[in-house]
Amino acid sequence: MTVAYAPGKIILVGEHAVVYGRPAIAVPVTQVQAQVKVEKGEPGQGIVVVAKDLGRVFSLARQERDATVGPLQATVANVLAYLGLTTDHDLTVFVESSIPMARGLGSGAAVSTAMTRAIARHFSRELTAGEISQLVYETEKLHHGTPSGIDNTVIACERPVHFVRGESPETVRVGRSLLLIIADTGVESPTREVVGAVRRAREEARERYDDLFDAVGDIVVEVRRAIERGELRHVGRLLDENHRLLQEMGVSSSRLDDLVHAAKRHGALGAKLSGAGRGGNMIALVTSETREPVKRALRAEGAQGLIDTAVEASKDFATSLESFTAS
Ligand code: MEV
Repeated sequence: MTVAYAPGKIILVGEHAVVYGRPAIAVPVTQVQAQVKVEKGEPGQGIVVVAKDLGRVFSLARQERDATVGPLQATVANVLAYLGLTTDHDLTVFVESSIPMARGLGSGAAVSTAMTRAIARHFSRELTAGEISQLVYETEKLHHGTPSGIDNTVIACERPVHFVRGESPETVRVGRSLLLIIADTGVESPTREVVGAVRRAREEARERYDDLFDAVGDIVVEVRRAIERGELRHVGRLLDENHRLLQEMGVSSSRLDDLVHAAKRHGALGAKLSGAGRGGNMIALVTSETREPVKRALRAEGAQGLIDTAVEASKDFATSLESFTAS
């Protein structure tokens, strides 16, 4: 049996604008993960995928056209094709994930990443993070329509990344650890729908949206510099500013705003929605002193789930991940 894992992710700054070519920064979240096990099946069974969290078992041969399992089928088919193999194998692929779905935590990309890795390993092939990212990007399109490619990149590479669509991503050097609380509104928000809504809004008011995206892009450049220098208060202020711009784009919600305000009132250095918005998660940048009060405040405000995570300080210089050419 072969096993592979992949973490969740959150976007620190730059969501939505990144779809339109502006930069964004995303970090892996290792407290939640997708796990995939692959084992040899019974002779003649074909490829069977057991998706525990979806309560579904399906066979690749049956070619069901189903929006829920479609991306999983495509993941299996894509990696086999990439390895030069046919789908004529007897395999059972067990998929499990502790990453809440449709909450901006990259559940789809993480499941596809773990599947791709596990299947390749089953055939004794270890793919590079860049290869995996590109394969997963193909299934991301089925999940999200016009994804920027940031989710598959950060999840495959498992390090903080500075991402610009169509360019080689770069790792981000972290001067001082960032303590983050991620709080779930409990409201599902499929990325595809919110990205579509932003696209339609931009068609109506192109100049206004492009100005908003430019302003977000400027924030991302400053956040990167502030993270490298360990200027956490400045990072916090920039997160607040990014949230305000996301509100103007029309992707926040009263639940998200309430959680953001609760975190701020209780000492967060900064707070914003993270991911597609309208529902899903928000993030708060905290210190070791404000960590617990902010968590209590978010719980009191009705957060449905909290993840307490840290982006650890790193001494390495930023590196360009040249093998990644996703999107
Ligand atoms: C989703 O995690 C982030 C968005 O910017 C969409 C994307 O980048 O594909 C909203």
